[in-house]
Amino acid sequence: MATETASAVINLDLPGAKISKHQYGHFAEHLGRCIYGGFWVGEDSEIPNERGIRLDVVEALKKLNIPNLRWPGGCFADEYHWQDGIGPRENRPKMVNSHWGNVVENNHFGTHEFMDLCEMLGADAYIAGNVGSGTVQEMSQWVEYMTRDDDSPMVELRRKNGRDKAWKVPFWGVGNENWGCGGNMRVEQFADLARQYSTFCRDHGDNKLYRIAGGPNVDDFHWTETLMKSVGCVSCNSMNVMSPYQAISLHYYTMTREWENKGKALTFTEDEYYRTMANSQHVDTLLTRHSTIMDHYDPCKTIGLVLDEWGTWWQVEEGTNPGFLYQQNTMRDALVASTHFDIFTRHAERLVMANIAQTVNVLQAMILTDPDTGALVLTPTYHVFEMNTAHHDALALDVSFRGQRERMEAADKRFNVVSASASVAEDGASSLLSLSNVHLDEARTIRIDLRGRDWTVGEARLLTSTEIADHNSPAHPEAVAPVAFEGFTVDGDALEVTLPAHSYVTIALDLA
Ligand code: AHR
Repeated sequence: MATETASAVINLDLPGAKISKHQYGHFAEHLGRCIYGGFWVGEDSEIPNERGIRLDVVEALKKLNIPNLRWPGGCFADEYHWQDGIGPRENRPKMVNSHWGNVVENNHFGTHEFMDLCEMLGADAYIAGNVGSGTVQEMSQWVEYMTRDDDSPMVELRRKNGRDKAWKVPFWGVGNENWGCGGNMRVEQFADLARQYSTFCRDHGDNKLYRIAGGPNVDDFHWTETLMKSVGCVSCNSMNVMSPYQAISLHYYTMTREWENKGKALTFTEDEYYRTMANSQHVDTLLTRHSTIMDHYDPCKTIGLVLDEWGTWWQVEEGTNPGFLYQQNTMRDALVASTHFDIFTRHAERLVMANIAQTVNVLQAMILTDPDTGALVLTPTYHVFEMNTAHHDALALDVSFRGQRERMEAADKRFNVVSASASVAEDGASSLLSLSNVHLDEARTIRIDLRGRDWTVGEARLLTSTEIADHNSPAHPEAVAPVAFEGFTVDGDALEVTLPAHSYVTIALDLA
């Protein structure tokens, strides 16, 4: 029996900030089977590939319209030396991937292979540069190698390696987790390095870099404040930004409890489920607090906040390498994703980009591949990304809830039972409503008054599962997959929607 817990108003004629498509960004690290076995199988593999890149993975990801892909790490980025990953593969030096399983990396997937992947996906490149163990010259030359187009030494080297034209590289990370794996630095030291490294990441030709300085972990507000203080001159005239970097990153992972006790992907209690929901929605508090600090120094929001690592982090699946971070993905993970996106929409003005960790075979992945058979499975999280594609670059609409919202409490945090977001397409012709009910075993009804424009319901879709821990596998690839949704009625200008327990619904509206 559904309880009517929520009543909300959406003014379809009052669009707000643009939801950057880059909020739906991705992350691919040299970690476990993300690159090797995930994206890259090599040209001699029996798995169908183009120049070594798995075609089934590319085809599946194309449906998500991946806007940008962050690479090569993560922690790996701060020990990666890009010159080891160019030239004939058989001559590339090997290295130890000390963060992730202590395995030997053969550097067969390097700059050219990554940019080939981006071109196949139609995604913008987001390169994470090495501040922790690299040099300013090394980073500066990588930018030159990728983006310059004359006869400079780096351009000649690139041409020798088979690429004539410069690539477009819009996003450049200056360090990663420099408070930890990226050098165990104090922010006072890193702030200076971020200015210095950013300075030598030049704009070559018409390639304009958006430089993202390695930011804080979770609630390290001192880190944010120090970077904002040292950012230089920002002004409300965006043509007059003198800052050496244009954005600051932030990392926040959702776990059941604390770092030492993350919980399992497939086996969890009701209490652990609700802790996860609470910890997931906690990203709202974090984005708000970091934004408040940024607003103080940059009231016109010229400097972006980039949540370039987010998602669930569980204990690895039994029998898998602990350093490979391979985990399954259930309807619970899907709700973590859907509620994150609602929150991202509300922070659209400051949150210019976000990158889920990670795209294939690592942490909250879109795709899991079988190491023995190569079989590919789309996760529940994949479906949330796919169902939300119409929000990319659309204009956010406020979902104003009437009265007291139903909240639950877990992990010392209160969280919403019904979560929602909405947007209107840039051309004004359609709108998308995204609705989550995180209650584990009860349905919820929400009545939404849709004002300001005439509308009719287009496609409505539902993602849910019988059991919350249901997941997809090669034997049951569609155990959790979207289906047509009919649980709504139209009542004049209102839409009454009954959301099943632990479900995610999208409703497209055609606007007159
Ligand atoms: O995504 C896995 C790891 O999490 C990244 O390498 C690192 O930046 C973070 O700690």
